[in-house]
Amino acid sequence: MFLCSRLGAGVTSSVRRYLHKTARCSGAGGASFVHRDTPENNPDTPFDFSEENYKRIEAIIGNYPEGHKAAAVIPVLDLAQRQHGWLPISAMNKVAEVLDMPAMRVYEVATFYTMFNRKPVGKYHIQICTTTPCMLRDSDSILEAIQKKLGIKVGQTTPDNMFTLAEVECLGACVNAPMVQINDHYYVSISL
Ligand code: FES
Repeated sequence: MFLCSRLGAGVTSSVRRYLHKTARCSGAGGASFVHRDTPENNPDTPFDFSEENYKRIEAIIGNYPEGHKAAAVIPVLDLAQRQHGWLPISAMNKVAEVLDMPAMRVYEVATFYTMFNRKPVGKYHIQICTTTPCMLRDSDSILEAIQKKLGIKVGQTTPDNMFTLAEVECLGACVNAPMVQINDHYYVSISL
């Protein structure tokens, strides 16, 4: 874990969200749960695992009992996302094929977890938690500061494709709330 003291600098607490207003439940920080084919995201979008990743998949499947390949769906989806940068429907279909499971079961997993990006994201994917413990520690001010600094709203990407902002539910770091995740790193608040 990493401490980011800069995010808190200069943050004001002028914006308050009433308790009855929680983060929009729209999946992946603003992405819709519904898939609609687009030129960049459709079943024909080119995707196949690299040779190296096929070896990794074999090793991952080996962690589960025989006949239970589908149990590997989350790590294999993660591998697909790391290879491609995000998860087009063609990648989900490939995961279903490799794990010998219905594509719908893969879609169900990919749409449930905000860690899976079904739209392209910027180089830095900022995921801010605004669930109750973080909200009580003023995550709204941090969200406001990020939006102001980057000039984007939740679910948007900066025009230079550097930053995407998502609002997410608890990321399991409540003890050091408020927190924000940027790519694979957690930035938390700690009292010294
Ligand atoms: S509530 Fe924010 S990390 Fe748990």
